[in-house]
Amino acid sequence: MHKTTLSIFLLFQALLTVTSKSTIEPCTNSDTCNALLGYTLYTDLKVSEVSSLFQIDPISLLTANAIDISYPDVEHHILPSKLYLKIPISCSCVDGIRKSVSTNYKIRPSDTLSTIADSVYGGLVSSDQLKEANSINDPSVLDVGQNLVVPLPCTCFNGSDNSLPAIYLSYVVQPLDSLAAIAARYFTTLTDLMNDNAMGTTAISDGDILAIPIPACASNFPKYASDFGLLVPNGSYAITAGHCVQCSCGPRNLNLYCMPASLAVSCSSMQCKNSNLMLGNVTVQQTGGGCNVTSCSYDGIVNGTIATTLNPSLQPRCPGQQEFPPLIAPPTSVEKESEFAPAPSPSSQSDGTGGRSPTSSVVPSTGISGFTPANGPISGISSGASAASSLVKPLPTLTPALVLLLVKLMIPVAL
Ligand SMILES: *[C@@H]1O[C@H](CO)[C@@H](O)[C@H](O)[C@H]1NC(C)=O
Ligand SMILES: *[C@@H]1O[C@H](CO)[C@@H](O)[C@H](O)[C@H]1NC(C)=O
Ligand SMILES: *[C@@H]1O[C@H](CO)[C@@H](O)[C@H](O)[C@H]1NC(C)=O
Ligand SMILES: *[C@@H]1O[C@H](CO)[C@@H](O)[C@H](O)[C@H]1NC(C)=O
Ligand SMILES: *[C@@H]1O[C@H](CO)[C@@H](O)[C@H](O)[C@H]1NC(C)=O
Repeated sequence: MHKTTLSIFLLFQALLTVTSKSTIEPCTNSDTCNALLGYTLYTDLKVSEVSSLFQIDPISLLTANAIDISYPDVEHHILPSKLYLKIPISCSCVDGIRKSVSTNYKIRPSDTLSTIADSVYGGLVSSDQLKEANSINDPSVLDVGQNLVVPLPCTCFNGSDNSLPAIYLSYVVQPLDSLAAIAARYFTTLTDLMNDNAMGTTAISDGDILAIPIPACASNFPKYASDFGLLVPNGSYAITAGHCVQCSCGPRNLNLYCMPASLAVSCSSMQCKNSNLMLGNVTVQQTGGGCNVTSCSYDGIVNGTIATTLNPSLQPRCPGQQEFPPLIAPPTSVEKESEFAPAPSPSSQSDGTGGRSPTSSVVPSTGISGFTPANGPISGISSGASAASSLVKPLPTLTPALVLLLVKLMIPVAL
């Protein structure tokens, strides 16, 4: 359905002479979704400095990039200039358009709107957008110390791509990029990228912002859970429930797997009611009719406590051991070819630490105390269809959003 919507917007875009194109998604709800920003570091920065640029949790930044957080003092680790990171953000609906508006930037001496836009935020925002969002009349006089709102591009598209759970990455096209190369790098197809971005041709230009679907594991938490709608991209981790629960996605299947993270000292009980199973525990029992699998799974944060569900199921065969996305060591240098590339696929990690399971490593030293899932993965969680189904309203209700967007586009801002 979003493909139709986007075609309409391509039309609007064509009417405007904009310097770079960006895929925009109209919206009607005040709901939010998980989204990613593709961001290239403009200078050496500590993990904590990158996370404060985007006002996100440093641990979430690390886990979203499958960086091992068990390294001592990992938040002060210095990440190298030109490193490409996926920044996990919350995507909201503002004035009928999907965008992230939770980022502020404090102006420093010698900043200009264009250095902030092009350099600090890597082209994810334009100076015109900064100017408009902050009602700046004269960009040549910026007040040092003043806080700027930094609107950032994101899309939700109902948390799905071709009816499968997906999270969308806002990617800034770099010099020498081609659409085919981007599609290959993200294991998607040209057709899919063109549909998602309502493109008539494969032509792209530096600075364009594309929405790239990344397969994800969907959660199936109840609507009243405070982490409702959690989506974890394939090959990565997410920390939720106040650093108490760690969820992972991939590599073998796209079933969300959550277990205790023990990052925080005070966590509510993670034991399933009426059982001795803890979050993430799975028991299997071969019976005549198949394999009797019982898993204790995470069901979101409800009223400030960790909700768990015991899922009994009968499966044709017993599941194997839970597998985890490989972790990488905190990067210290940028390989030439990975400069603008996404986090490398696990098989290509060559730093010698790739492939470590989170048994001892996805949490800091205070960590996880050698958790090894005794048995196979959970099969009862997966498919968060219901979790995502309310994200987009049917077409008719989009009309007000279209009007709003049109108004928005009249403002001479490079979208
Ligand atoms: C998830 O990632 C793994 C490892 O990168 C890959 O082998 C697998 O095909 C991916 N799954 C999907 C559905 O894209
Ligand atoms: C499956 O296992 C659970 C827990 O071990 C048990 O309560 C249930 O009776 C078993 N079901 C079958 C069909 O064996
Ligand atoms: C959360 O707590 C409130 C008041 O304590 C209660 O009314 C409500 O039913 C609780 N919600 C859930 C989902 O347990
Ligand atoms: C259950 O999970 C806990 C916490 O992750 C772990 O310490 C324990 O070894 C697991 N037990 C079994 C039987 O898998
Ligand atoms: C949203 O996605 C779910 C699956 O994740 C699908 O069942 C539903 O039809 C989608 N809704 C719309 C409006 O596309």
